[in-house]
Amino acid sequence: MMLHVPEVLTREQVADIRARLDATDWVDGRATVGPQGAQVKQNRQLPELSPVGRELGEIILKALLVHPLFLSAALPLRTVPPLFNRYEGGEHYGLHIDGAVRSVPGTHLRLRTDLSSTLFLSDPDDYDGGELVVVDTYGTHEVKLPAGDLILYPSTSLHRVEPVTRGARVCSFFWTQSMVRDDWQRHLLFELDQDIQKLREKLGDCPEVLSLTGHYHNLLRQWAEV
Ligand code: NI
Repeated sequence: MMLHVPEVLTREQVADIRARLDATDWVDGRATVGPQGAQVKQNRQLPELSPVGRELGEIILKALLVHPLFLSAALPLRTVPPLFNRYEGGEHYGLHIDGAVRSVPGTHLRLRTDLSSTLFLSDPDDYDGGELVVVDTYGTHEVKLPAGDLILYPSTSLHRVEPVTRGARVCSFFWTQSMVRDDWQRHLLFELDQDIQKLREKLGDCPEVLSLTGHYHNLLRQWAEV
């Protein structure tokens, strides 16, 4: 399931993050990929242990962990510290798949990449090209969102970033291990949770809504690995 998560960051947060990113040094993006990715990747990134990146990443993680739509869809167990990339002057990233397991830099921790996130930090009017193109069993999807919005998609999908032909595309990107490994089970829980919330708004906490909430939690109890 691909999901547009709107307004993860406020306009003020985006402006503040961008001001700090624009004033910092970027390195070749091939620092964080394996040999397949290195052949097709052409962009710049903040170094993985960059203090500025770590600080800005914390702001993003804090915002995500109170975002009801992200929590409902991702059921996150653990998320790597967000990274930052920048494409301009024709830079792009050819078709690739993200590695299945990632180390958390500076620790002995590793996580399985169930979900990939791209958080846009440039507005679509500020650049041409730069669409994130995700290929899944339902076809090919092109994504370009307002600054502050995030796209969540299964890390099992092949994807690419189109060349940026005008302006600069700045994004944060990161991976999440979900409590629920299976995409279909996670999707079912998400839809059930969303329907329960809508029913609760319409009907209040009537016995049926309470019972459905129980079914949600009992399914989560069956499927969650924590
Ligand atoms: Ni990727």
